Amino acid sequence: MSQAPDRMRVRVDHPAHHPHSEQSIDGVALLTLDRPEALNALDYQTMTELVEALERLDADGSCRCVVVTGAGEKAFAAGADIKQMAAATPVSLTVANDFARWERIRRIRVPIIAAVRGFALGGGCELAMACDMIIAADDAVFGQPEIRLGIIPGAGGTQRLTRAMGKARAMELILTGRNLPAREAEAHGLVTRVVAREQVVSEALGLAAEVAARPPLAVRAAKEAVNRAFELSLEAGLEFERRNFYLLFASADQKEGMAAFVAKRPPEWKGR
Ligand code: CAA
Repeated sequence: MSQAPDRMRVRVDHPAHHPHSEQSIDGVALLTLDRPEALNALDYQTMTELVEALERLDADGSCRCVVVTGAGEKAFAAGADIKQMAAATPVSLTVANDFARWERIRRIRVPIIAAVRGFALGGGCELAMACDMIIAADDAVFGQPEIRLGIIPGAGGTQRLTRAMGKARAMELILTGRNLPAREAEAHGLVTRVVAREQVVSEALGLAAEVAARPPLAVRAAKEAVNRAFELSLEAGLEFERRNFYLLFASADQKEGMAAFVAKRPPEWKGR
């Protein structure tokens, strides 16, 4: 089914309360890929809206954690939009350079949690892996099926799946394109936890609220440092960690966190 080009494909919500408890979820934004009739396939418009929404939230100091999920019953996202991509040429891909937008997701400083129900295939799996944590439904299915289309993953799949699961498993999944059920993804370290389908978004919002309640400078430094573990040598990664550890002692939140511990009272974070 075709859509009017001006229909928004990413919904942005700021839920005030956790859906299943009285827990405040201040500072948490929920982004929903909203193209269920195409299993939330990531066409260029959807990716543009997603990246722009993430950048807006990242620049807004009141947003402390983002949850990304997919609308509808069947999918988180079934990949890049195959119909849109089918006629591409190396020249059109190079000129448009749409896939460079994925780099912008990597530069988002606020933590992002993927809440995955149903299919997370191709670009959908790559998007989930570009997030910092994945909460998966027991019906979630991950995979990089690009080989079946005559291509390879193009938004990080060969790199992130290999880093997450190791060469032996990633190679099998990428060369065959087979699906990876949620429990297997959990066993191999791809996802943070698996919960019942109806609890996925609330579980992710609860986790996001917990992260949002932590001191934001330390959260951002921690996200960056963990990500460096994939990018740097151990020596350079340890050096990066130590410098950020020292740097946080310049923050009001470090003084507050330690003073509150000593005084046996809850800390009040200032974000500076
Ligand atoms: N792109 C465009 N449209 C898609 C799509 C995609 N990736 N995935 C699903 N759709 C569309 C289908 O064409 C269909 O539309 P119509 O109703 O207009 O025909 C609709 O979504 C529903 O899909 P199905 O009827 O196929 O649903 P199903 O339940 O029978 O099958 C599925 C579900 C197994 C996920 C199947 O849709 C599928 O295999 N999708 C493609 C998965 C894939 O190959 N993804 C990789 C894309 S390439 C990529 O992502 C490159 C990269 O690295 C960035």
